[in-house]
Amino acid sequence: MKFFAVNGSPRPKCNTAQLLDKALEGVKSVFPDAETERVNLYDFPFHGCKSCFACKIKDGKHYGRCVQKDDLKPILDEIVQADGIILGSPIYLSDVTGNMRCFLERFVFPFVAYSKTETVEHKKMPLAYIYTMNASEEISYQLGYHDIHDHFEMGLERMFSKLEHLYVYETYQFKDYSRYVSDAFDEKERKHIRKTQFPKDLESAFEIGKRIAIRAEQHD
Ligand SMILES: Cc1cc2nc3c(=O)[nH]c(=O)nc-3n(C[C@H](O)[C@H](O)[C@H](O)COP(=O)(O)O)c2cc1C
Repeated sequence: MKFFAVNGSPRPKCNTAQLLDKALEGVKSVFPDAETERVNLYDFPFHGCKSCFACKIKDGKHYGRCVQKDDLKPILDEIVQADGIILGSPIYLSDVTGNMRCFLERFVFPFVAYSKTETVEHKKMPLAYIYTMNASEEISYQLGYHDIHDHFEMGLERMFSKLEHLYVYETYQFKDYSRYVSDAFDEKERKHIRKTQFPKDLESAFEIGKRIAIRAEQHD
């Protein structure tokens, strides 16, 4: 079995990456022999969908598949065959990061059938989404982050299966807050959240990984 974590953060060791690694540990706790891999979307150059529509050509050789040849292509070819996927992204300007959007266009759009009657056949592996952000839970609701993501997740659920998510709030953003103009944040409070809440978030990520593994086995 193979499971992927897809990291939409440009920082390969920070909040999102740590949570994704914990989720993959959760997978391993269920299936010690499973292959797991974290793909960092900022490690290689690639573009979003270029609207070539090769994935929609009638009786086309590549129907339902992305043909764009770049560094993402071989990884994407593996990801579409994965047994489970955990996506993770920081919130940038109220949405997931640009590279995560580009990835999702390439991953999801070929599976969208431009038909009233037909669907595109593809593997329906279990998915989960981990979001990290500066905002507190209260502010994230005030700013409507959940509405944006719920809408997007509904689309993914229609195409795959029930998607679960984890929202991680008030993340620790800098190693040394004193170096940056950052008085909008209370560093002491952030440190406290990092010490007390982040370990719980890591535990939740671990549990998500476990559930993804179990669902993969049950084809749920
Ligand atoms: C360009 C940019 C835009 C951001 N926009 C938001 C935002 O709209 N809302 C928010 O709560 N946090 C925002 N943040 C903060 C990040 O979402 C947060 O620090 C996240 O946990 C970083 O994840 P990482 O440590 O894995 O890189 C932004 C950060 C950057 C660099």
